[in-house]
Amino acid sequence: MNKETYYLTTPIYYVNAAPHLGTAYTTVASDALARFMRSNGKDVWFLTGLDEHGQKIEQAAIAEGKTAQEWVDEVAPKFKHAWETLQITYDDFIRTTEPRHAQGVQYFFEQLHSKGHIYLDTYQGYYCVPDETFFSDEQLAEFAEERQAEGLPSKHNDGSPLCPDCQRPLGYVEEENLFFKLSAFEQPLLDYYEANPGFIQPEIRRNEVLSFVNSGLKDLSVSRTTFSWGVPIPFAPGHVSYVWVDALLNYITALGYGSDAPEDQERFAKYWPAQVQFVGKDIIRFHCVIWPAMLMAAGLELPETVFAHGFLLTKGEKMSKSKGNAVDPYALIDILSVDGYRYYFLRDVQFGTDGSISLERMIQVYNADLANSWGNLCSRALNMTAKYLGGKTPELWEKTTERLTAEMGNPLAELVKGGLHNRYAAAFSAEDYSGAMNVVMELVDAANLYIEQSAPWTLAKLAAAEAEEAISRSEDLADSKAPTQADRLSFVLYNVLESMRIIAALFAPVMPNSSAEVWKRLGLGNILAIEDQAATCTWGDLPANLATTIGDPLFMRLNEDDIVF
Ligand code: MSP
Repeated sequence: MNKETYYLTTPIYYVNAAPHLGTAYTTVASDALARFMRSNGKDVWFLTGLDEHGQKIEQAAIAEGKTAQEWVDEVAPKFKHAWETLQITYDDFIRTTEPRHAQGVQYFFEQLHSKGHIYLDTYQGYYCVPDETFFSDEQLAEFAEERQAEGLPSKHNDGSPLCPDCQRPLGYVEEENLFFKLSAFEQPLLDYYEANPGFIQPEIRRNEVLSFVNSGLKDLSVSRTTFSWGVPIPFAPGHVSYVWVDALLNYITALGYGSDAPEDQERFAKYWPAQVQFVGKDIIRFHCVIWPAMLMAAGLELPETVFAHGFLLTKGEKMSKSKGNAVDPYALIDILSVDGYRYYFLRDVQFGTDGSISLERMIQVYNADLANSWGNLCSRALNMTAKYLGGKTPELWEKTTERLTAEMGNPLAELVKGGLHNRYAAAFSAEDYSGAMNVVMELVDAANLYIEQSAPWTLAKLAAAEAEEAISRSEDLADSKAPTQADRLSFVLYNVLESMRIIAALFAPVMPNSSAEVWKRLGLGNILAIEDQAATCTWGDLPANLATTIGDPLFMRLNEDDIVF
């Protein structure tokens, strides 16, 4: 049977600087969802890449005394390296300077041109190079009013207006541009939002977009003529594509849009439209207004969902390279490990809202959840299995299990059987990573509590005493009809080890290394090969007599005083 396809994308990142925590955040979240979907039976295609054209990149290159091509070729490997370090399992990595992309962009322009959606005119107005955005007089007037109300200036010392998004001075542009009849899509977009309430998520972003479109759409400049670092437009000499149009098209050119090759056409037909496109809340208008209008104009389907997450804030400010408060992901990975890093951002920042991040909090979450709870559970369980069961997963007889369940109860089995995977999967599918991690932590906490309450060390003592007594009475405990203390001990440790097996399977999309390690220590197979996570998480599947190993602590406890940052 053909698997259902699942196409997800990250924004493509500007190569004006190296990756930072913000760009890594979107990428890690996308990767976790890609891994989750793969382990739940989907045929996943996960795309990320780089936005390499435009004035901003050209200026960054000039500032470094390089050609734009030299510059992008230097920065691109830094992104690939960062994603490799964070174990991002993308299926394709697109760079907008690749010929396959240029071909698709040109094809798109020809389509729009032939369908009458494009015309030539002159743009006179303001432009923000760092944001690569045109601002209308109305937008600037609205911003000026807001600033005035806050008692803040809306103009730079030199008199130029400030950018409503990044508050840097805007440049005035007067140039011949091609225009896309965006205004013609105002009503079709509003109709689409209404018919597809899940298209823009979360709700707050949907409302923002609705009010923006409701206030009226203007036609959009889609070409530039005062510089040349972009895709040339075939029917308009001297024009290169406006960088946002170029960039948005990556989501389809990477699949093969605009190519004649049968394998490209097949891939495009197979995966488009996307199930989810992740963006930060800063670029929602491009993705929820311009992008769907572009697709409508070209006669293509729209993505199912554009999901906008919030900003990571350090000391209350959006973190960005240009503000100089961007933290290098490598420095944190050194402290937290790759798994600890991935876990922190997905667990502690509610996806969809802004989140303040700090090293103190990272260490706190890491120590509490990973070192103390999850790591400690594994080390206790594996140590006790070595000490009391000769390092083998216990063998349980159905009859004994039934009797012991009646006698002692089995809260861990109940928790798992009571829809744990359903709750976890529902949260994950709704991009509620924090909620999904909380569900897993419930089982971790329950297993730790269970160890305390069932005290295997006491059962081990009782089992030893019982065995000694049996020897003195020349009895064979194997003949005993009633469960022995040794049966109780095996039952308890089985429940703990079985929980560990399931917890690792549930954590795997977020923490692939430690989960794989836990399965290895339990003597189980490759956790990354799971294709039916729900079935894998069925209670009672842990085989008997697997050789377990103790190993080093999964997560070493961190001491804030020892950390130099
Ligand atoms: N190149 C455009 C996107 C084109 S997509 C067709 C762009 N690039 S960017 O390098 O500025 O990266 C933007 C994305 O990075 C944001 O939308 C967001 O996903 C992520 N983040 C950058 N800084 C961030 C934070 N401080 N916090 C969270 N994510 C942020 O815009």
